[in-house]
Amino acid sequence: MLCYSPRVTIVGAGRVGSTLAQRIAEKNLADVVLLDIIPGMPQGLALDLMEARGIETHNRKIIGTNDYADTFGSEIVVIAAGIKRKPGMSRDDLLKTNALIVVEATLSAIARSPDAIFIIITNPVEVITYLARQATSLPRDRIMGMAGVLDSARFQTFIALELGVSPVDVNAMVLGSHGDLMLPLPRYCTVNGIPITELMDAATIERLVERTRHGGAEIVELMQTGSAFFAPASATCLMVEAILRNQSRLLPIAAYLQGEYGLDNICLGVPCRLGCGGIDTVLELNLTDGEMAALHTSAESVRESIERYLG
Ligand code: 2OP
Repeated sequence: MLCYSPRVTIVGAGRVGSTLAQRIAEKNLADVVLLDIIPGMPQGLALDLMEARGIETHNRKIIGTNDYADTFGSEIVVIAAGIKRKPGMSRDDLLKTNALIVVEATLSAIARSPDAIFIIITNPVEVITYLARQATSLPRDRIMGMAGVLDSARFQTFIALELGVSPVDVNAMVLGSHGDLMLPLPRYCTVNGIPITELMDAATIERLVERTRHGGAEIVELMQTGSAFFAPASATCLMVEAILRNQSRLLPIAAYLQGEYGLDNICLGVPCRLGCGGIDTVLELNLTDGEMAALHTSAESVRESIERYLG
């Protein structure tokens, strides 16, 4: 009998990358290759995770490495490498350094896993995903950015806390870019099918929308020495699972747009169907004029960053 275990490579063994490795292994989704440039660091994390396997009752391998040769044959490559945001720093401040790191990492990984699907997490995520796509010429189904699942999870959390209901019953949708110009869509948010616009007044919704827009920054301000990693890892793991299990999940994903929503040659958070081949459909929602204008404003800021970088 042929035994086969899928492999997920995670480049960048910081808090997001290592927490993601833990989630993937402990959910029994795949073997994990955790790669970082710091000698010994990914090896130590991998050994630590391996030593928990008996207790967590799974048999997934976690390999720590500094060598891209060990990443061969991965079904999915997650790029979580890059420098972190510090208090007062915008995601754009990160761009210069992180673009170089991610493009190099993506090219090194694709040489060993030519059929892999790439998920970029590094910020500013839409700009970095665009640059990585441009450097690799990957088709849009196989390279995408993670942000909308995280932002939607934050909106979901704030709605659930406000109403005193389980977050499991809340469906929230956040589109656009991962930053202050993101576009939480209250019209498309429900509690078990009931639109939140029937459960909360406009001022309350606006307060939750604003908190969602600043969700990442709120955590940076609280932690002072780091940024969020538990929810970012969970959001990425959800995408990894959707691909490995061919779940056809409808999720907000930073995808390369080719005319959808009147936008072309840009990466932006839009609802996509995600399965074993990556993104198989970009769904075009009916947006009001105001929502469409906000989506375009969000796209403009991403485009300006790309142009500044390519300069
Ligand atoms: C966040 O939103 C750091 O972008 C990340 O928490």
